Amino acid sequence: MSRIPLIAANWKMHKTAPEARRFAEAFLPRVAGLDGIEIALAPPATALHALGEALAGSAVALAAQNVNAEPSGAFTGEISPGMLADAGCRYAIVGHSERRRLYGETDAAVAAKARALLEAGLRPIVCLGESLEEREAGRTLAVCEAQLGGSLADIELERAAELILAYEPIWAIGTGRTATPEVAQEAHGFLRERLGVRFGEAGAAVRILYGGSMKPANAAALLAQPDLDGGLVGGASLDPESFAMVCSSAAAGRG
Ligand code: PGA
Repeated sequence: MSRIPLIAANWKMHKTAPEARRFAEAFLPRVAGLDGIEIALAPPATALHALGEALAGSAVALAAQNVNAEPSGAFTGEISPGMLADAGCRYAIVGHSERRRLYGETDAAVAAKARALLEAGLRPIVCLGESLEEREAGRTLAVCEAQLGGSLADIELERAAELILAYEPIWAIGTGRTATPEVAQEAHGFLRERLGVRFGEAGAAVRILYGGSMKPANAAALLAQPDLDGGLVGGASLDPESFAMVCSSAAAGRG
């Protein structure tokens, strides 16, 4: 099964609308010639509109960092899947460890968000991954399995191909400490197997991104692993040149 690599930028709480526009100006020419991969940028919600305009006509997609599972209502401060679609988003990140840890997002909430996104025509990027304590206690695969089961609880079999997973070991996020390609592949291979149990043959179509200090220096080796289908890139995605280099590594791996 050949899966098209996806390289997604997670800007977190960085960049204003003018900064996002300037990024697009510098970034788009650098990736214009890349074939065989998909690229997405997830700015803060306040920059979605401006960045969407700047990306219009390019192959680079717009993504959101979060969503509320409800279609509308009295939910102060929240944004619905339909609103993200209206803003031009094709993808939305859900269940990032920062949201799970800092804002109490549970597997059940992540599952509801993922399902609501699919219903609105967006592709969810569902994040999961173990903490350092869990890894050191030998619980990595058990934690991933539990998060996978809980976070995908609401996804129907026929929607599996639109789903994207991101394995993001918490100890590697923003720390400069990347999982080695072998350590990452062990988790990705395990997740692939569990997706097969959950979705049957359709599980092979689900892309599994790696996230956690991915950067130009380590992207090629990580992306060479059989079950790594792209990256969710934080720090190294804030600079157009370094993010373009990660995208180029993914495209070169396809060639
Ligand atoms: P990082 O963040 O690349 O800065 O480690 C990745 C993420 O949190 O998605």
